[in-house]
Amino acid sequence: MNFTLNNTPTTYDGDPERSVLTWLREDRRLTAAKDGCSGQAACGACLVEIDGKPVLACSTPMRKLAGKRVLTLEGFPEDLRRTLGRAFAEKGAVQCGFCTPGFLTRTKLLLEQNADPAPEEVIKAVRPHLCRCTGYVKIVDAILEAARMLRGEESVSFHSGPPRLGSSVIRYGAYERAVGSHVFTDDMHLPGMLHGALHFSAHPRARVLRIDIGKAMASPGVKRIITAADVPGERFVGMIVPDWPMYVAEGETTRTVADVLACVVAETMEQARTAAALIEVSYEVLEPLIDPEQSEASDILVHESGNLLAVKSIRRGGDVEQALHRSTFVLTETFTTAPIEHGFLEPECSVARPDPETGGVHFHTQGQGLYHDRDDVARVLGLPKEQVRATMVDSGGAFGGKEDLTVQHHAALAAWLLRAPVKVKLSRPESLRMHPKRHPMRLAYTAGCDAQGWLTALKARIVGDTGAYASVGAAVMARAATHAAGAYHVPVVDVESRAVFTNNIPNGAMRGFGVNQAVFAMEAMVERLCKAGGFDPWQFRHDNALDQGRMVTTGQVLGRGIGLRACLEALREPWERVRKSGRAGLSCGIKNCGIGNGLVEECVALVEIHEGGRLVLHHGWSEMGQGIHTVAAQFLAHELHIDDLTRIQVDSDTRYGAVAGATTASRGTYQLGRAVLDAATKIKADLQQGGSLETLAGRTYEGRYLCTDTAPGGEPGTFRSHVAYSFAAHLVLLDKDGKVQEVVAAHDAGTVVNRQMLEGQIEGGVLMGMGAALSERLRLEKGHLASDKFRDVGLLRADAMPKITVIAVDNADPEGPLGAKGVGEIGSIPTAPAIAAAYYRFDGLPRRTLPLEPPVAPVQDVQSPEGDTSWSCY
Ligand code: FES
Ligand code: FES
Repeated sequence: MNFTLNNTPTTYDGDPERSVLTWLREDRRLTAAKDGCSGQAACGACLVEIDGKPVLACSTPMRKLAGKRVLTLEGFPEDLRRTLGRAFAEKGAVQCGFCTPGFLTRTKLLLEQNADPAPEEVIKAVRPHLCRCTGYVKIVDAILEAARMLRGEESVSFHSGPPRLGSSVIRYGAYERAVGSHVFTDDMHLPGMLHGALHFSAHPRARVLRIDIGKAMASPGVKRIITAADVPGERFVGMIVPDWPMYVAEGETTRTVADVLACVVAETMEQARTAAALIEVSYEVLEPLIDPEQSEASDILVHESGNLLAVKSIRRGGDVEQALHRSTFVLTETFTTAPIEHGFLEPECSVARPDPETGGVHFHTQGQGLYHDRDDVARVLGLPKEQVRATMVDSGGAFGGKEDLTVQHHAALAAWLLRAPVKVKLSRPESLRMHPKRHPMRLAYTAGCDAQGWLTALKARIVGDTGAYASVGAAVMARAATHAAGAYHVPVVDVESRAVFTNNIPNGAMRGFGVNQAVFAMEAMVERLCKAGGFDPWQFRHDNALDQGRMVTTGQVLGRGIGLRACLEALREPWERVRKSGRAGLSCGIKNCGIGNGLVEECVALVEIHEGGRLVLHHGWSEMGQGIHTVAAQFLAHELHIDDLTRIQVDSDTRYGAVAGATTASRGTYQLGRAVLDAATKIKADLQQGGSLETLAGRTYEGRYLCTDTAPGGEPGTFRSHVAYSFAAHLVLLDKDGKVQEVVAAHDAGTVVNRQMLEGQIEGGVLMGMGAALSERLRLEKGHLASDKFRDVGLLRADAMPKITVIAVDNADPEGPLGAKGVGEIGSIPTAPAIAAAYYRFDGLPRRTLPLEPPVAPVQDVQSPEGDTSWSCY
């Protein structure tokens, strides 16, 4: 058949049912259109233009192209592509950037139809697209900006001023991501590259009697099928406990449908997937354990060590029963929360190849722990770490879901055994099935306060379903316990959390790391106590808020730099205006920065100075849309008075030895910032001897940061479990139908490094928190996914976006780099409980589950808020 591709006549005579996206990406190496959902037509990342219309390439067969005119982002007129890319980059609409090319294509088509769209028209146009990072706010801004540029009303300047602390410098690599020229892992093509596809267990719990690979081996293009017997080193991996088998062997019992039995390596991805489906496995199917309380009581063991992974207990301040007995108001409630899918737009992918330099393997990962990934891959291969090199490829979102190994060790082992480059990629259904989710929890809370509204005591029992493998479940459930009292000072605390194995898909890290669930429960208790005692919800929160000299749940007494009350004070005036409307709710939030608890956290930054004063900054963190590259470069530029950020190149690769832990716990800004400042101090000392950066060319400066917190225990005030916490307070206003209309998000982010990026993080976090409140739930049935459709996990689209106002209270952290601290997770924490509070006021029904039951008829005539409800003045 004949058609034109990017204005070039093209002929195709292959499989007419093949998807246009596969052909574009695999055969034509046009990779601006992304594969976000494997042909499910759910995400919009693959959008192309066909005969002037928007078309999802992933779900369009090649036969439909006959006689048509196909345009991808690569074929846009260059000045149009540049204008759109600049608008998105300048407006901060690009975070991970995986979704962005799809939005750019949509923008072109929208603006050709309507050169001056209203914001509502833009929102309607982008509704088919998912973005998990931005909350859509800045994407809509960018499209309106692009429209102005194309109408000639705005200049197409591409300059954001010197990269100083606090300035909204354009994100590192934003433009390249926007126009689709940034290379994500799945965009990599190496000469002679083979493709791997995994065969998963058909049952959550079953004895594997036989794995028959005969038919699969005979399938076209197959080079090798790898099973448990082929693993040369350790077969088990894991973030904390190495309990997750890379392959389940014949004779063993599976623990989850996330278990892998084999990896087929073939010439193409399509051949590998076809062959993987031909593997025949005989099972003895067993009844799975799917409920943590059933699992704790059962004789059936998920792991030989028992079904209880971990218990975390905190008891301080005296006898909790007596303290509750002495309280004026005491309430008991039990809450449950759902498992949640991260919804990052880029499914997992890794490319590995033999490394001639070391005689080992070099793999490219989009995981969240460069050095951890490297160490586990070395153990699997049975090689010394020095023979395994890991290069970080900036990922298309992660949110905690890429902490555990998924495909990296499979790609590395295949490359090692076949002595060839190998790519292993998960389809969207496989991604939903394999990576650990947010823990569903059951939280039984009893809380009390006195007649004046001072919190007196908290008793909490929290059970979390950690699924089939340990992952970081023990730490997540510990974090739920250590944040059980939320952002409040409670004098007497008795808390216990339990992480329990089941045969469900593993649960592990997700933005907020167990704190979201605990804060949801505690904030609901605050609302109930306010109602019982007739207390004003703002005043109650302000009175009990954590502050200098007060204690978090663990008994850590806080030092200077606590901005929670400042956040609440920023909300006071809006709250006063809406409190009588019967449709507003408040919530506070807290999140630790850093893993803490006495764990040694080491971070190294290496700054190489090259000819012409160009700098290369090596670090060990993952860029997944949160902006660590930009923040690191901005600290360096600020300290060295560099006016052009493009003079600094940032890189993350084990080859250089700039060690760091996993990119988790909102710690990247804090720890890498401190290490970069340490390196910058040494450079400045040399500059003071005379000369310039150019004269230092050839030198490398090392900066280092070692975290100095201590394990909790003993008397309050004798330990410091975390060096810093971030704080926030959110106000939610519903419309007259109970729909979320506005969110005002006040945050203590320490010194703001990049205001636009901070806003972007918070806006994205707010929408994620709204999703948890309204719609997000990964449905499982007897350990299986109830649906493997991306659209069924409940991610919100642009038309759900409320007006979001971000307030950053000025509050330098005493030990943070130039006063900064992390904000990666906190944005997602207070929104859901604030919506629950608003619903409670709206219809009078207390809610005990996440996601929330939708609001019913209001209990009172909803009032208009007093005065202007535009918070833009904040
Ligand atoms: Fe086509 Fe998701 S990849 S809609
Ligand atoms: Fe949209 Fe990451 S920027 S998904």
